[in-house]
Amino acid sequence: MSDEATLERVRPLLRARQVREFTPEPPTDAELEALTEVARWTGSSRNSQPWRFIVIRDRASIKGIHDAGVPQTRSLLTAPSAIAVVLDGDEGDVEHAFDEGRAAERILIGAGLLGLAAGIAWINPVARAEAARILGLPADRFVRAIVPVGHATEAAQRPKSARGAARLPRSETVFNERWPQG
Ligand SMILES: Cc1cc2nc3c(=O)[nH]c(=O)nc-3n(C[C@H](O)[C@H](O)[C@H](O)COP(=O)(O)O)c2cc1C
Repeated sequence: MSDEATLERVRPLLRARQVREFTPEPPTDAELEALTEVARWTGSSRNSQPWRFIVIRDRASIKGIHDAGVPQTRSLLTAPSAIAVVLDGDEGDVEHAFDEGRAAERILIGAGLLGLAAGIAWINPVARAEAARILGLPADRFVRAIVPVGHATEAAQRPKSARGAARLPRSETVFNERWPQG
């Protein structure tokens, strides 16, 4: 087991939680630039970098994507900005999906390090054409993951569940050496 001091060093990762409700205050340009630096420096399979990132500050665009994709995109209702992870190729490509997840999660963690809040919203397949239209994507690109970024409202800062209860217990999740035997 980690001791408390060791655990403390990874605390920003333990605290990286999903926020779905934001105040109107936008992140600064420098903050969004830092987050897109984090995004583009994410590692990807064979360093293919299958992504492009679109920083969206226009509330009408964010609201349009929200409306097309609710309930999955409900975090966009209040988001003052968002970063869309645009991919090339086939929506069924698992390597791209893995890379996309790595980038989205890093944006979320980076937001936390900057004192901002973020989430991960998946644009469901029926809403992807409308999201692509709003973002002006060429036909060979698609968007599935969008990361709202802003400042958490007071309500969103409150714990969503009892301390330690938001994940499966460690005893059911982490094993040593071998799968637990009956
Ligand atoms: C691949 C993936 C897709 C997700 N899609 C959505 C989504 O469409 N809408 C949403 O509000 N949250 C989405 N989430 C966020 C999860 O619901 C969230 O990480 C989970 O509930 C845990 O939240 P917590 O980290 O705040 O405890 C997604 C997360 C992942 C990893």
